[in-house]
Amino acid sequence: MYRPTVAQIDLAAIRGNLQAIRRCLASGTEVIGIVKADAYGHGAVRVAEVLEQERIRLLAVATPDEAVELREAGIATEILVLGHAPADFVPYAIRHNVTLTTDGHATAVMYAAAAESGRLRVHYKVDTGMGRAGVLADRAVEQIMESATLANIDIVGLYSHLASAESDPDLTAMQAERFAEVVRDVRAGGLHPAMVHLANSAGIFSVHGSPLDGVRPGILLYGLSPAASLAQACRVQPSLSLLTRLEVVKDLPCGHGIGYGRTFVTDRPTRMGLIPIGYADGYPRSLSNRASVIVHGRLVPVVGRVSMDVAAIDVTDVPAATPGDLVTLIGQQDGLCITAAELAELAGTISYEIITGISKRVPRIYIDRQS
Ligand SMILES: Cc1ncc(COP(=O)(O)O)c(C=O)c1O
Repeated sequence: MYRPTVAQIDLAAIRGNLQAIRRCLASGTEVIGIVKADAYGHGAVRVAEVLEQERIRLLAVATPDEAVELREAGIATEILVLGHAPADFVPYAIRHNVTLTTDGHATAVMYAAAAESGRLRVHYKVDTGMGRAGVLADRAVEQIMESATLANIDIVGLYSHLASAESDPDLTAMQAERFAEVVRDVRAGGLHPAMVHLANSAGIFSVHGSPLDGVRPGILLYGLSPAASLAQACRVQPSLSLLTRLEVVKDLPCGHGIGYGRTFVTDRPTRMGLIPIGYADGYPRSLSNRASVIVHGRLVPVVGRVSMDVAAIDVTDVPAATPGDLVTLIGQQDGLCITAAELAELAGTISYEIITGISKRVPRIYIDRQS
């Protein structure tokens, strides 16, 4: 590694977050570990290994290829693919204990045909209000019971996804109610899927009533709150820091432009620090002239446009700043902290997009206080 820009992943924080989530749940409720999108930018294999050590019984990814990556790395825990899977993935899924989502009877028929002589495990997805994938709640029972008669298909799970668990209690309650009705009617029809699940991170705190078999936290596992209002609900800590080092420190006279478009012009003699991170690393261009970074225990501003590979910061007020010094873009340093949520706010997005957007060019390095 010749470039000092890294995402540092604290695996012990992920373990701690899992324990904190488990403490918030009714006893017996399983945590389904969401490791899609490369475990929210943390590295799916390393995170899945940790979750496996912590006895998680089900991992969930978005795509078939994400499941293959985990299996090829030796992850043995059952994996649920939340998104669409094509027919030609079905034989692999059967051979490698990968469970697929069916969004209705037509997909179940397609899977059954592709399963040949094997048996495919599926979770049925019900659309209770999200308006994306899943069989609409009012047609769900009929389709689920029809699919249950298919040879080669085992319906082992039933789930739905919440649209606004962090912000709309009425919609959440309505979705939970619709889902509970489907679950009740399916059970009354004699089908008992072992894993019934609804709540994402926010849903853990906003779905009230009878506990289901499992919850599906993603963002909370990585120590971020799905919404500012829920930040205190569960004691988790961020597991990702984005770090680099000062590459160049240069004196610029007053009135000198910095970066593309000359969007920043110095209004005093300025010590400009150049850091090797840009939008191609996932540090959004929309943070130009907005974000701050931590250098030597001080917050200093990003000045000028964030470009593809580098960004400039103003270190005039940090006389000690020298090339090679640590620069924290996300994370804690010397008692200061910059969160992905704060950057998201400045960039006009959500913390999910900030952490999943850190690109492949940024090496992930792992620390684990337990090892
Ligand atoms: C089906 C499903 N369940 C759970 C999650 C996890 O959501 P969160 O990260 O908000 O906990 C996601 C993420 O988008 C999802 O698509």
